[in-house]
Amino acid sequence: MTIHIGAQPGDIAETVLLPGDPYRAKWAAETFLEDVKLVNEVRGMLGFTGTYKGNRVTIHGSGMGMPSLSIYVNELIKDYGAKTLIRIGSCGGMQNSVGIRDIILGMAATTLSTPSRGIFKDMNFAPTADFDLLHKAYHAAEAKGAKTHVGNIYSSDVFYDERPDLNEQMVRHGVLGVEMEAAELYNLAARHSVRSLAVLTVSDHLLTGEALPSDQREKSFGDMVEVALEAAFA
Ligand code: HPA
Repeated sequence: MTIHIGAQPGDIAETVLLPGDPYRAKWAAETFLEDVKLVNEVRGMLGFTGTYKGNRVTIHGSGMGMPSLSIYVNELIKDYGAKTLIRIGSCGGMQNSVGIRDIILGMAATTLSTPSRGIFKDMNFAPTADFDLLHKAYHAAEAKGAKTHVGNIYSSDVFYDERPDLNEQMVRHGVLGVEMEAAELYNLAARHSVRSLAVLTVSDHLLTGEALPSDQREKSFGDMVEVALEAAFA
């Protein structure tokens, strides 16, 4: 047990999928895994371990934003031995070439700041995905017929952003989408020599104002879970 995770030693698999929402973790585990066991419910942050095609996998909520994700990912790596961590989440589209429901694989993640800023100070470290996971996720997403984009994403600290000029600069520099967690996941994976990736679906669009209807969110989320599982075990 750690401060934020009630799982026993051995309860967490080496491969962990990280949706922001703990109830999405429950839905994904019940929908895609076999022999599912609840391994954490501290503070309502649900984690489940089961098997996918015979491979052990944990699906655990990360919460929203990099400080929350950082707590869970630190403990999952350092105390439970997680080796492959894949964020599955939503993002806001930032390019006209990107449509609602498309999948974005974050090759790199740009930020204004992360919980790792205290380490990097004035250095602009480039947080990047694991290439093998990225490559396999790309092929898994294409095989599902999903329109898939690979490139830079923006991990913002704010959902209600009072600085629209920042988004404008991201759009101008070809950033595909905005979310709130991936950069710190990539920083932590680099620091601890483990693999990480962010698989995102476009749930809303900053340029067009479109949003994914709520009845289609589950299907898009399910597609992402399958892409992440295939990337982890292909
Ligand atoms: N901003 C930040 N995070 C997000 C967004 C957004 O527009 N959409 C989905 N996650």
